[in-house]
Amino acid sequence: MVNYEVLRETGAGIFKVLAKAKALEREGKKILHFEIGQPDQNTPEHIKQAAKDALDANFTGYVPSSGIQELKEVVQEEVQKTRGFTPSLNQILILPGANSGVYYTLRAVVENEAHEIIYPNPGFPTYGSVVNYLNAGDKAVRIKEENEFRLNPFDIEENLSPNTKAIILNSPQNPTGSVMKKVEIQKIAELAERHDFYILSDEIYSKMTYEEEFFSCSVQDECKERTILLDGFSKSYSMTGWRLGWLIAPEEIVDRMDLLISIGVSCTSSFVQKAGVAALTGPQDSIRENMIEYRKRRDMIVKGLNEVNGFSCLTPQGAFYVFPNITKTGMSSQECADYLLNHGIACLPGTIFGKNGEGYLRFSYATSIDIIKEGIEQIKAIFN
Ligand SMILES: Cc1ncc(COP(=O)(O)O)c(C=O)c1O
Repeated sequence: MVNYEVLRETGAGIFKVLAKAKALEREGKKILHFEIGQPDQNTPEHIKQAAKDALDANFTGYVPSSGIQELKEVVQEEVQKTRGFTPSLNQILILPGANSGVYYTLRAVVENEAHEIIYPNPGFPTYGSVVNYLNAGDKAVRIKEENEFRLNPFDIEENLSPNTKAIILNSPQNPTGSVMKKVEIQKIAELAERHDFYILSDEIYSKMTYEEEFFSCSVQDECKERTILLDGFSKSYSMTGWRLGWLIAPEEIVDRMDLLISIGVSCTSSFVQKAGVAALTGPQDSIRENMIEYRKRRDMIVKGLNEVNGFSCLTPQGAFYVFPNITKTGMSSQECADYLLNHGIACLPGTIFGKNGEGYLRFSYATSIDIIKEGIEQIKAIFN
């Protein structure tokens, strides 16, 4: 049975804040938005053109549930270029967004309610929602500010049991922007091999790192044994509304997920997949340009938040989020987020990302430098 109350708690927080911000705007209040986790740039023209061309060519019918051959081949090359190995086409699955890949993966590997899933907390809310939806054993592991919000392999080891079925890694991470170190990922991969569990590696922000280098745990077994590599187009190519993602997994797991896709959605949209081909094979300058811009914004928001009384903020190494500690304001995350919203600043309470997000806020800096400047001035005026 699905516990909708638990799902409401874990899944809908972001949309509640959005609704409240919109209601205030309807009343005529000016709101500066830092709550939404999507790029503020438009989808590059050549990607949109590829979708338009596909529509004009009437590429509008059903396609294979696992994805079109052309996009699978392009994903195969992408994995070779970015992770250094070539998966077989049978290891590749095209998805209607990476988010759905979390569900399909856990649905495919969890076989009974005793199976436990380890995942980072605070973390991307879908992880906890899916674990609860499947009635699997919930092993949310705290990621700590003193470890710069990186999952610690020792904390993982402490939470292992004979029922551990999978662990979810997410680097660069939402909501903290942390990037795991190669040695930490390798230690977790060793644990997975020794104790025989899967690793779902959510690498949706893999092209979005700053000083720290991105390392994919998929290289350990080339996704043949136990690693499921999940990536997509939403963040790097500004394609959140297109709903397009992909994953690489052991063939027997892909086979299961393929069945689930064909039952649930038949296939991923045909002409959107053509846009995906253009995204991966076309010019990549927009990603480089966006990262230069994101770095400027990151530096500005981190510096600004550290000047606010009661706030302290680490410098994230990836993605486009900051996760300041606000415990010294004396407010809870929810109180602080509500207070800021009533003063025209929309951000998210850390608790949306799990109970260990208490004491923190999440700001997305996927917005203009001018908005960041104005927002920081306003927050300083409130607290200083
Ligand atoms: C860590 C993480 N994984 C997956 C997703 C979902 O991406 P998609 O838009 O491809 O479904 C997000 C979106 O915010 C995310 O932050």
